[in-house]
Amino acid sequence: MKPGETVTTILVVDDEPANLSLLNHLLRPFYQVRAANSGENALRAATSEPRPDLILLDVMMPGMNGYEVLAHLRKHPATADIAVIFVTALTDADDEEHGLALGAADYIAKPITPAVVLARVRTQLENKRARDWMVNKNQVLEAEVARRVAVQRDLQGQLLQADKLAAIGLLSAGVAHEINNPVGFVSANLGALRDYTDCLLDIAALCDEALRHEADTEVFRQTMWRLRQKLQDADFDFIRQDMPHLLHESAEGLDRIKKIVGDLKNFAHADNDEWQMADINANLKSTLNLARNEIKYKATVNADYGELPPVRCHPGRINQVLLNLLVNAAQAIDQSGQIRIKTWLKDDEVCIAISDSGCGISEVAMGRIFEPFYTTKPIGKGTGLGLSLAFGIVRGHGGRIEVVSTVGEGTCFTVVLPVAGPAAAPAEV
Ligand SMILES: Nc1ncnc2c1ncn2[C@@H]1O[C@H](COP(=O)(O)OP(=O)(O)OP(=O)(O)O)[C@@H](O)[C@H]1O
Ligand SMILES: [Mg+2]
Repeated sequence: MKPGETVTTILVVDDEPANLSLLNHLLRPFYQVRAANSGENALRAATSEPRPDLILLDVMMPGMNGYEVLAHLRKHPATADIAVIFVTALTDADDEEHGLALGAADYIAKPITPAVVLARVRTQLENKRARDWMVNKNQVLEAEVARRVAVQRDLQGQLLQADKLAAIGLLSAGVAHEINNPVGFVSANLGALRDYTDCLLDIAALCDEALRHEADTEVFRQTMWRLRQKLQDADFDFIRQDMPHLLHESAEGLDRIKKIVGDLKNFAHADNDEWQMADINANLKSTLNLARNEIKYKATVNADYGELPPVRCHPGRINQVLLNLLVNAAQAIDQSGQIRIKTWLKDDEVCIAISDSGCGISEVAMGRIFEPFYTTKPIGKGTGLGLSLAFGIVRGHGGRIEVVSTVGEGTCFTVVLPVAGPAAAPAEV
């Protein structure tokens, strides 16, 4: 045998030693031969090493006969695929049919003709080799498919991340502006509050002095005079009015900063793999807050939030979809227009419609807008990934995106999400 070649093993089963010997002599020059002299021994031999590639099985044997042996072999996964040729003196057509129905590969009549035995054996071994080759090929193909699916999933994840980073880049100027504005007036308010505090501390110090010299009429009188003077100079009535106003305004400014930073943090936060029950209206409001700067110079926003139950979803991903739709709507408007947002519950689905009074989408473009990298925007303005990613995310949630558009009038994108999330095992998003 050449190196690398595998040994082909044949198990011959017969209760008659002369028959065993005959088959052994005939096959030994070409194959490794093992022998069993009963049905019970045949079953043992079939599961021990070296496993037979083919079994030549006598039918009429005391104890377990050939049919029973075959039935046992077929029942067990380890031996179910071993090809079996019956070698028998029973040449009745019914017997042959019975054996073949049980799963025998072939039938050889006794007394045997060596050439016939060798030819039939060779045929069965070639069939087995072809079967093994197919199984092998399938395994290789399956492994390749699994590898490609994993690569694609990985790429999809990277794309989503890249899109998110691009969105954060796009939003950062607006967010910085949103933060700068309150930072400006809070710091101005703090300046005024510092002056007021100095003044109030002076007044408190004079009150303290007056109280400490209560017994000394002259000092007390002078201190009271200075106190009155101070109150007049400082315009105490105005301080009393202005101070709560400045404090209230500053607290509001800090809340705005806190909110926008929270929204950004929410958006940038990578979704962990867990599905969550999320308030879609709250998500929409927070995403809109982030995109406000992208929108406010172009469009007025009208929002009509319907009452929605919590939706099983990946909130970060849904935010990504909503942001893409809001930014698309703003970018579709040339000078000034309107963006309408509406949410409602229909049966067991939540619908989110984002419509704009922008340029609209032509019939030709409509067929392509969900294609990756399809964009009509100038370089640097759009990569053409927004809608294709949105499509993938929404489909992963068991939902859909519907579009209605009229050129020159506007477009409405509606995201429909099942409240319960995807029906089957949660799909990859
Ligand atoms: N609301 C809309 N009105 C008009 N055209 C739209 C609207 N939304 C999308 N489109 C069209 O669909 C194209 C693809 O949109 P998509 O969001 O996938 O990519 P993009 O906005 O061009 O780039 P990106 O989202 O990667 O920044 C857009 O270039 C535009 O032509
Ligand atoms: Mg886009």
